[in-house]
Amino acid sequence: MKVKLKVWRQKNANSPGGFKTYESPALNANMSFLEMLDVVNEELANRGEEPIAFDHDCREGICGTCSLVIDGKPHGPHKGIATCQTYMRSFQNGDEIVVEPFRAKAFPLIKDLVVDRKAFDRIQNAGGFISVRTGSAPDANSILVPKENADLAMDAAQCIGCGACVAACKNASAMLFVAAKVSHLGLLPQGQPERYRRVQAMVEQMDTEGFGACTVTGSCEAVCPKEISLDFIARMNRDYGVALLKGEPKQVAGGAG
Ligand code: FES
Repeated sequence: MKVKLKVWRQKNANSPGGFKTYESPALNANMSFLEMLDVVNEELANRGEEPIAFDHDCREGICGTCSLVIDGKPHGPHKGIATCQTYMRSFQNGDEIVVEPFRAKAFPLIKDLVVDRKAFDRIQNAGGFISVRTGSAPDANSILVPKENADLAMDAAQCIGCGACVAACKNASAMLFVAAKVSHLGLLPQGQPERYRRVQAMVEQMDTEGFGACTVTGSCEAVCPKEISLDFIARMNRDYGVALLKGEPKQVAGGAG
């Protein structure tokens, strides 16, 4: 199969960007979308042209590095998978495919399809950890966790921090990401001592980074490769309200918040 690609090219954040059209060479339909870009880049390099810059690492839906908007949808046409798990058989021979970077003020563009998502790291640094002593593995096994909480914590912990939720949201809100990170710790016994300081610190860092407010359109949940539920946002809002009422210092021990 062959496809026509309309790809966003931009030298850096200070240069103007625009779409460039490329005809792919003959492709195997079982190639992943990123392998297709590798093949296109090989051709560009052979012609002495600048290859298309794009982010990737694990290429198996784990690391959250891949970050393309394909035909207007973060991570492409399918639900519940990342860009790296999208295969060319999802497209028809001769299709025109539009490829853009994640667009949000808090994710400044670095080059072509690569954006800077360090704002997520700073939110994590503000409170997305446990600093109390949790003992060794046998200690953890001796602390009973209700099944419902354990399941919910694991659902939230699936977030790979890719930022598709931000890219899909008309307000560029990071609420789904922050809610997932707050909830997977806040649901477990080990996360209780810092539960309210954590949520306050992470929400305030999110606001400092310039992410927008949540207006519950659900676009984040719809594109999340791990199908994180909007319910976690409601849960985070409840914890944030309690944190404000408690008036605890927002600084989490060891954190930057
Ligand atoms: S490259 Fe790791 S999730 Fe896609």
